[in-house]
Amino acid sequence: MKAKSFALFGQPIAQSLSPRIHAEFARATGIMLDYRLIPTTAAEFGQRLERFAADGGTGANITQPLKELAYASCSTLAPAAHRAGVVNTLTRNADAWVGDNTDGAGLVHDLAERHGLDLRGRRTLILGAGGAAAGILPALLDAGIDSATLVNRTAAKAERLSERHGDPARVHVRYWQDVSNIGSFDCVIDATSAGHVGGALDLPFSIAGTRALAVTLSYGAAAARFLGWARAAGCTDVHDGLGMLVEQAAESFRLWHGVRPATETVYAALRADGGDAALLATD
Ligand code: ATR
Repeated sequence: MKAKSFALFGQPIAQSLSPRIHAEFARATGIMLDYRLIPTTAAEFGQRLERFAADGGTGANITQPLKELAYASCSTLAPAAHRAGVVNTLTRNADAWVGDNTDGAGLVHDLAERHGLDLRGRRTLILGAGGAAAGILPALLDAGIDSATLVNRTAAKAERLSERHGDPARVHVRYWQDVSNIGSFDCVIDATSAGHVGGALDLPFSIAGTRALAVTLSYGAAAARFLGWARAAGCTDVHDGLGMLVEQAAESFRLWHGVRPATETVYAALRADGGDAALLATD
């Protein structure tokens, strides 16, 4: 039987762990597949995706800077992608692409199942309003957080994300420069690419409430600054994005193959490898 063909599109993606994760899932489930990296700019995306489909590609993961473009190029959108406005998983179905987004399900699975955390009722601060923030917001709301306060360096992007959700009772926007005066939260999520691109967030300790959960979607070296801030701020539960990376991959695998792979082996192996990579869980 010929191995089905999968790929990750984005730029830069050379450091991506996705091929390793999907190869491990394939080995564990006995499914034959080929998963490769296709470095692709926005200008190249349409043509490369068409070529991939023509060559028999059956599924793809999409990362920056292509998640919004992927959303626009799908004829059918699963509810998670429709609500997020960004697509990270494509599945070929009857000569067309179906778009979905597994980032939010991956994050919630990691926090609830791996770390045993109850997200219900948490007043949540989300830092960032790019593709990663958009991907996780619907799943967090569905998981029962009390509210999401969006803060982004470019305020207009947070406004757009909030408007997309049309739920002013639960999704609020505040200015980044006011972050010292917005009170404290039960959950603080770093969904920026600051760690990844070498920027500093300069966060006050005041945003971390008592027994707060702090999560960054970055992992490896990119997560270090935020994790250090969270521990110094006294957050009780502090997590990086490695678990989410593995879980969003497992969700994509389930969409493509109809089986959700066990994730602990590959998670433990990647954790043991340490923090050389400096990436986002959404890559
Ligand atoms: P991703 O898919 O990783 O979310 P993105 O869509 O490019 O990638 O979004 C990156 C996010 O990180 C944005 O919210 C960005 O803020 P801007 O919208 O103002 O650009 C945020 N970000 C990146 N570097 C940052 C920094 N040094 N300080 C604060 N926010 C930063």
